[in-house]
Amino acid sequence: MINLEGKEVAMAHREKIKREIEEQGIEAGLAVILVGDDPASKSYVASKEKACREAGIRSIVFQLKKETSEEEVLKKIEELNLDASITGILVQIPLPDHIDENRVVEKIDPWKDVDGLHPFNFGKLFMGNSVVEPCTPKGIIHVLDHYKIDLAGKNAVVLGRSNIVGKPIAALLLQRNATVTICHSKTKNLKELSLSADILVAAIGKPLFVTAEMVKEGAVVIDVGINRIEDKTKLSGYRVVGDVDFESVSRKASAITPVPGGVGLLTIAMLLDNTLTLARIQQAKAA
Ligand code: GUN
Repeated sequence: MINLEGKEVAMAHREKIKREIEEQGIEAGLAVILVGDDPASKSYVASKEKACREAGIRSIVFQLKKETSEEEVLKKIEELNLDASITGILVQIPLPDHIDENRVVEKIDPWKDVDGLHPFNFGKLFMGNSVVEPCTPKGIIHVLDHYKIDLAGKNAVVLGRSNIVGKPIAALLLQRNATVTICHSKTKNLKELSLSADILVAAIGKPLFVTAEMVKEGAVVIDVGINRIEDKTKLSGYRVVGDVDFESVSRKASAITPVPGGVGLLTIAMLLDNTLTLARIQQAKAA
């Protein structure tokens, strides 16, 4: 069984980006908007900020109150769209219920959309002509490529249909000639379908949902979940687990990503990658 360690792959990629930024004199500035005080989101944003700093990307975090109106968020985005020193904009998801995620994403200048979630970028992704790809799906493909896992003709089953992971990873797997099935909360024969998977991507946000009896012998399992579950033996009072029951599934899988230390680290590396790509494009346009 191969442990698809994200850490080494992510760190090597971050070093490469840092070198390119230095050598090519790229001036990249990432603005991150965080609405509310969800502890997990705050911790992700802090990691993104640190990674930017280490790579030589300026980053500014706008921490807005939970009650901030949709109009105010849209206004902030408009301001950042017009600011030439900002080359990338990221709005941390999830947003509070009173804010429409689609309206927010559509407001971002597509050439500053480091998440690749604007309809322009999402459309190009599905056409196989992407500029930037959503960070987590891009990270998954990166780790599969690193470990030389061939996707052509394989049955890939994606659990979850979110815009941020499920739909875009399906598009990328399809582009690599996998036969892709997307399962979701209304899927009837989920266990049967997941058992047919050569490549199984779990992105449903349910702790330890995927158990050994849902996994085919020799399957490659990608665990996108980052769930906090109560653990009184820990100082923090919680521990982080994936959507996959690693202990039982790792005995059947031929390869599996761990949580933590798997896909999460690659998401951040790909965010830097997208930020560099868009900064380069803007620099070339301004020249
Ligand atoms: N929330 C969880 N992952 C992500 C991500 O990759 N981008 C954004 N904007 N929000 C997230």
